[in-house]
Amino acid sequence: MKTLLLYYSFSGVTRGVAHEIATALDADEAEIVCSAYRSGFLGYLHAGFDSIRGKLPPVRIEPGVSLSDYDRVIVGGPVWTGSAATPLRAALEALQDWPAEVGLLLTSGGQKNIAPAVEQVEKSLSRGLCGICHLTATDLKSEARKERVMDFLAQLANAAPDPSGLVAG
Ligand SMILES: Cc1cc2nc3c(=O)[nH]c(=O)nc-3n(C[C@H](O)[C@H](O)[C@H](O)COP(=O)(O)O)c2cc1C
Repeated sequence: MKTLLLYYSFSGVTRGVAHEIATALDADEAEIVCSAYRSGFLGYLHAGFDSIRGKLPPVRIEPGVSLSDYDRVIVGGPVWTGSAATPLRAALEALQDWPAEVGLLLTSGGQKNIAPAVEQVEKSLSRGLCGICHLTATDLKSEARKERVMDFLAQLANAAPDPSGLVAG
């Protein structure tokens, strides 16, 4: 199954996990690049205000990709003010030809309830997700990191159609 890991990362946390998952899935990787938010406190504030207001910034994808080349896309990004980060939301809105199988990777500082962010992503894509992986900053520093990633890979494997084309039973 040809898979793309498409992610946004403001400070590098999601990038690290995305790369780990992409390696495990032998997936291609592409980054959602956004130059609207500078690093540092002012950039953080700007990003936070945009997130609250739902103001989506311009983004580009590096390298450029065509989603129709993939059977499955995993989208990833940080949680901002309880939502998926605005550059990820912008990419979800802008890109066409999403495959039937889309999974979601979210990292957060500590927030455990990601239901509103997941709902927002599903609404943008007009479909349910084939797997969800959420890692808090605490998870990332513990054994939970490995467990969450393994659980996500299992969700994806269970959602994927039988490659033989035969339906069991
Ligand atoms: C503008 C902004 C808003 C954030 N809002 C939240 C939030 O609502 N809940 C939370 O748990 N973490 C929040 N965070 C923390 C990030 O989700 C967390 O540090 C994430 O792992 C960073 O991923 P990245 O390095 O890939 O950007 C926020 C970070 C930023 C920059």
